Amino acid sequence: MNALAAKNLIYAYRNSSAKVLDGLTLEIAEGSFEALMGPSGCGKSTFLHIAAGLLSPQEGKMEIAGEDVGAMNDSAAAKFRRRNIGFVQQDGNLVETLSVSENAVLPATLAGERPVWTRFYTLAAKLGLWGLEEKYPAELSGGERQRAAIARALYAEPAIILADEPTGSLDLANARKIRAILQELNKTEKSAILLVTHDPQMAAAADRVHFLKDGRIASSHPTGHDAAEVSRLYLETYK
Ligand SMILES: Nc1ncnc2c1ncn2[C@@H]1O[C@H](COP(=O)(O)OP(=O)(O)OP(=O)(O)O)[C@@H](O)[C@H]1O
Ligand SMILES: [Mg+2]
Repeated sequence: MNALAAKNLIYAYRNSSAKVLDGLTLEIAEGSFEALMGPSGCGKSTFLHIAAGLLSPQEGKMEIAGEDVGAMNDSAAAKFRRRNIGFVQQDGNLVETLSVSENAVLPATLAGERPVWTRFYTLAAKLGLWGLEEKYPAELSGGERQRAAIARALYAEPAIILADEPTGSLDLANARKIRAILQELNKTEKSAILLVTHDPQMAAAADRVHFLKDGRIASSHPTGHDAAEVSRLYLETYK
């Protein structure tokens, strides 16, 4: 089964006639680790927002874990997404008034469920968040915020994690750490990962890379975990 299947998505922002997405089709297999690349403004974040249900496409179909999310009513769709999609944004999109641990279990709290603290501590160990559980986002470094955001995205064991440039604002050492963590999590957790990045090193952590061009996926390639190969493919695609 696919964790995500986008079929012929068409999307234009309200105040513009230009189609940001123009027939985008993409399948992300269950449990896989894939990267999405493309120049600034090509529509990567727009696509992730559609996948996460924050924007609705004018045309096309979006399936998550085999379910047509667009066909559900609003409350069913919201509940389904909360369970099946983890979204990590560049700024770590944490709730500033909640601690690291409260942020991480937010999917449960919002669903009216009792948090499973053993699940949180398992993730905290994998993500190097020990000792930071009671801290608030403002007290964290950029790398720590990203790791807290990844903990929250993973908490509910969603079908897919959508990560929008999670290392975009990090120094090299922290970016490397996040990269290693994502690779490790992909082996030990069930969730597929779709990683948007401008960094060939990050993209090479994934098994496949997709290039977005003219509103659709221009091509998809195995990365071979080789950053030089990803750079070469990138330059060939956008020459
Ligand atoms: N809210 C909006 N209203 C109108 N146009 C928008 C809006 N958000 C983005 N756009 C436009 O849509 C296009 C795609 O933007 P998007 O943010 O998806 O690009 P991106 O590939 O994520 O770029 P980057 O790598 O810089 O993050 C751009 O031309 C952008 O200016
Ligand atoms: Mg973007």
